[in-house]
Amino acid sequence: MESFPTNSIHRYNRRTKLFIAEQHVHIDQASKADAENMISQLEASYQQLASSQLNLDLTRGKPSPAQVALASDLDGILQGNYVDADGIDTRNYGGLAGIREARELCAAISGCDPDQTLLGVNSSLNLMYQVVEFALNFGLQGDAWKQSGAVRILCPVPGYDRHFALCEHLGIDMVPLPMTATGPDMDQAEALVREDPAIKGIWCVPRFSNPSGDTYSSATVERLAKLGKIAGAGFLVLWDNAYAVHSLYEDAPVLPAIDHYLDAETESSVVQFGSTSKITFAGAGLAWLCSSADNIKRISSHLAFSTIGADKVNQLRHVRFLQNRAGVEAHMRKHAELVRPRFELVLKLLEEELEGSGLATWTKPKGGYFIQLNTRRGLAREVVKLAADIGVKLTPAGATWPYGRDPRDSDIRLAPTFPDHNELEAAVRAFIVCLKLASWRQLR
Ligand SMILES: Cc1ncc(COP(=O)(O)O)c(C=O)c1O
Repeated sequence: MESFPTNSIHRYNRRTKLFIAEQHVHIDQASKADAENMISQLEASYQQLASSQLNLDLTRGKPSPAQVALASDLDGILQGNYVDADGIDTRNYGGLAGIREARELCAAISGCDPDQTLLGVNSSLNLMYQVVEFALNFGLQGDAWKQSGAVRILCPVPGYDRHFALCEHLGIDMVPLPMTATGPDMDQAEALVREDPAIKGIWCVPRFSNPSGDTYSSATVERLAKLGKIAGAGFLVLWDNAYAVHSLYEDAPVLPAIDHYLDAETESSVVQFGSTSKITFAGAGLAWLCSSADNIKRISSHLAFSTIGADKVNQLRHVRFLQNRAGVEAHMRKHAELVRPRFELVLKLLEEELEGSGLATWTKPKGGYFIQLNTRRGLAREVVKLAADIGVKLTPAGATWPYGRDPRDSDIRLAPTFPDHNELEAAVRAFIVCLKLASWRQLR
């Protein structure tokens, strides 16, 4: 290690066996000699990582084993008592919308009316698919979307890859719409729906958005509630509130209720989705949707062709376990205890290694599951590849954009929840080496 110049910007760290930033040189102010010095140190770190045979994964936006274990008491909680508060034997057929107690619980999580809440299978993505497919082929309010030819949906970007995959699968064109720290760019959204009648909906992840972690402001929520007035009949705001109760801090931003801004003309233009995937069991939770009474009636009639009803035993288990909104909040504080240190670790490493370097910007979410990092233009793919080559999996570059096309090739989604502390530190340190190496090499 002595062979490196003494004006080194990095310091060799014996514990991590990596060069770690000691002094932050902004890449735009670096000399050629600085750049070459950086590259040789980073290549040494990269080789060191390559020889360590890493097998790390920063892609998984899923709860850690300790998080799912928080809900292990679901198992056996019914103790043979399968009858709900209304005297319904949950083991038997019936009740397409779900048992009343579960509708009340889920409505409390989403801030909706239990009478306008319908439970589905364990995945909210499944309900989103059902609703979009129904609107496309049959029409939810009014004509089938496909009746007038091309169908387009506004996609705030970066966004959730599975929303985009769903659209692509159903042949719906996607129109990227810039995200801001207060939600989608509403000037553009309104202009686009005004100009293009083929735009039939918009995806929204309104609290702790995937991947930026941003929460929509009240002004944005109000304009989204009214977007249907501009767009016309059949337009849908697909309100995927997957992270409704997933704050990591007491002072995390609160999402204004969209219902508050709805009136008789717009109430059927909003369909809200939620689930307990990241509250209890990601693979065996509850999922629901909330909308106008009329939409609930129409969606129920449509679903009745494919199901007699969802798993009511699981609904009852969840009611007994979580009980009510206060029970959910108490449970989510336990999740926050597990997730917060992971977010803080990632943010600390990014800050120590990258702050003031001009190599990246990143979000600092107060909740949710992701951190969004932006590399310098044209580098995300290269960084993800460098990381993959040394055994560190990152979400594929471009995944947060429709059709996988990030025009700046700069968005990278980091998912801190799943790995344990040591793995997370090792993965983020390795990621940072790859990011720096790609960035400095780009100067050559
Ligand atoms: C924004 C968003 N919506 C929905 C989901 C999936 O939810 P579910 O498990 O209820 O299908 C995720 C999972 O990562 C997500 O990030």
